[in-house]
Amino acid sequence: MLGVEEKVVVITGGSRGIGRAAALLFSCHEAKVVINFNAHPQAAQQVLDEIVATGGSGMTYCCDISDRQAVEQMMRTVFETYGSIDVLVNNAGVWLHAPIEKLPYDVYKRTLAINVDGVMHCTEAVVPYMIRQGGGRIINIASTAGQRGEPQYSPYAASKGAVISLTKSHAVELAPHNILVNCVAPGWVHTEMSAEALLAEQETIMRTIPLKRAGQPEEIAWPILFLASAGATYMTGEIMNVNGGSVLCG
Ligand SMILES: NC(=O)c1ccc[n+]([C@@H]2O[C@H](COP(=O)([O-])OP(=O)(O)OC[C@H]3O[C@@H](n4cnc5c(N)ncnc54)[C@H](OP(=O)(O)O)[C@@H]3O)[C@@H](O)[C@H]2O)c1
Repeated sequence: MLGVEEKVVVITGGSRGIGRAAALLFSCHEAKVVINFNAHPQAAQQVLDEIVATGGSGMTYCCDISDRQAVEQMMRTVFETYGSIDVLVNNAGVWLHAPIEKLPYDVYKRTLAINVDGVMHCTEAVVPYMIRQGGGRIINIASTAGQRGEPQYSPYAASKGAVISLTKSHAVELAPHNILVNCVAPGWVHTEMSAEALLAEQETIMRTIPLKRAGQPEEIAWPILFLASAGATYMTGEIMNVNGGSVLCG
């Protein structure tokens, strides 16, 4: 047993890609999963249907995480429904192409609003409940881009650098409340977000990955589950690189 049985786990962007894989994996280990999404209700419903069909339970919740009030309402609803919020996975994010010489300000603002403000809103909204119940886990999803930068995607890289920094700050700040805050920083993973780039730039990308392949969403979901589990009670403020070795070779 991993210690997540019956725990209430909120996963932002739980409807597709890495979030979907995490939702299914947590459910396999008997957690109750809240599948947050923003634009595609069908995808979220499919994840919930899969969970229910395999004997699990959970709910979907539509909410744009860049909207602070909507996020507060989401956490309130989850708490009223289940009576606790044990784990928050700050996974939802966008990866928008933004060459600096023709960067639309809107792309910059939207990237920061979802990838950074979204993490802040969800964390701020969930912490009072976790404090009240004596602890919790927060797992943020960053990226290799947040550690080494990413040409043509500088707002994204900046946003993920901020997520890493938020992880470290919140880990120290929330430690007295027994709230452990960690981060998973994936490299290339096969999802809708990366599909086009992985196809178009396959050779170039593979040169940067010692394991010579992109990861599967499940390979990110397992480290997320670990950080929420009974195996990670003495970890906080950690950035877990899950990238086939790619940060090591440029
Ligand atoms: N894939 C990679 O190669 C890779 C690499 C490094 C890091 N990451 C990070 O891993 C995380 C997940 O990426 P992914 O590849 O799984 O992405 P994805 O397949 O594009 O899925 C994104 C998820 O986020 C949700 N979402 C987007 N904007 C939202 C908003 N404003 N409010 C609430 N939910 C929102 C989407 O729901 P809707 O469709 O309903 O909007 C969807 O469930 C992201 O933080 C990403 O930056 C991914």
